[in-house]
Amino acid sequence: MKIAVIKETGASTSTSGESRVAATPDAVKFYINAGHAVTVTKGAGKQANFCDADYKNAGASISTTNETSVKTANFVMSINGGSKALVAKMKKGAGIFGLMNPTDQPDYAKACAKAGVTAYAAEYIPRISRAQSMDVLSSQSNLSGYRSVVEAAAIYGRSFPMMMTAAGTIAPAKAFIMGAGVAGLQAIATARRLGAVTTATDVRPAAKEQVASLGAKFIAVENEEFKEAETAAGYAKQMSAEYQKLQAELTAKHIAKQDIVVTTALIPGRPAPRLITKAMIKSMKPGSVLVDLAVERGGNVEGAKPGEIVTTANGVKIVGILNWPSRMAADASALYARNIRNFLPLVTAEDGSYAPDWDDEIIQGCALTRDGKVVHERLK
Ligand code: NAI
Repeated sequence: MKIAVIKETGASTSTSGESRVAATPDAVKFYINAGHAVTVTKGAGKQANFCDADYKNAGASISTTNETSVKTANFVMSINGGSKALVAKMKKGAGIFGLMNPTDQPDYAKACAKAGVTAYAAEYIPRISRAQSMDVLSSQSNLSGYRSVVEAAAIYGRSFPMMMTAAGTIAPAKAFIMGAGVAGLQAIATARRLGAVTTATDVRPAAKEQVASLGAKFIAVENEEFKEAETAAGYAKQMSAEYQKLQAELTAKHIAKQDIVVTTALIPGRPAPRLITKAMIKSMKPGSVLVDLAVERGGNVEGAKPGEIVTTANGVKIVGILNWPSRMAADASALYARNIRNFLPLVTAEDGSYAPDWDDEIIQGCALTRDGKVVHERLK
């Protein structure tokens, strides 16, 4: 098949600025060896430190624009799904893979349907064991969790580890991670590695053991509702108003003593739960840093602003940085490229041509469009 790797514009999502690329030169080499033809748009990997010459050496042809790259391609690899205008330039019957933010931009899926293009939304790949190696959400969230703590450490005006020096002893920072999913667990591990005294919370009981295994202390309202808070799919449920009140009381007591707080709490298909209020922030010490990884989905922290670092009147910094994986573009691209590489066999026939396997539950789970129609349940 003919594969196109586009240069990201960030145009189709709320995320401005995108440094990742959907295939590395190594991935291109793999596709060429497998008998595919690959076209890469000029400069596609530049922001992730992969140069055109490396793609060329790997066997790709370089084209000057995304429009030329996608024109004859059977399968387009992207991070953010390109744009409605780009999809319109694709060949009828072709496919495009990317993070498409489908519910926030239904017009994008409609544009794909109109063009007769199948859109594979990376975020809808079912979280079943067989799909773990294709799980873009996990590969990217892991890096977000790491980077959020590194960034918090850079903004924090003090040391993370305890230091005993001739000039005196520095106390270790206290870090609190709220939400111990993929990003949260990596944030805990990173805060621990940097030497912070680390605590964490979640509403899913399964998280308790995982937090403990990383050497952090688990803090949560562990009542009857907590025991039932995980869905069959492994996600958190929306908690009752009563639970939220108890959780807020616990958080309020704990947070006043924290130097670093990273929030990662999400509930699928709903706005992010509000975990930290202005009153709680008021109780924190000047110089404390709050990082809200859920800011794109409405935010866990009151007063967090997407894309900004806000300093409150009492000197607390609220970090609302967007698109964390893009800040680690080389690693994020390499993991993402591997995710697509593992996905590709599901749309490849034995002779190497493009042919999606519509009987496969992974394809059914992530395809937004088919034969000129929007087919995904969540968009109907
Ligand atoms: P997520 O990004 O949807 O949410 C992040 C975390 O926030 C979750 O741990 C969630 O329980 C927590 N949370 C939600 N509401 C909260 C509240 N009010 N207070 C505190 N915490 C709250 O979750 P993520 O990272 O995508 O992982 C969710 C689950 O899926 C985990 O159990 C993970 O192990 C599992 N998973 C399974 C995979 C597979 O089988 N292929 C791949 C990746 C994750």
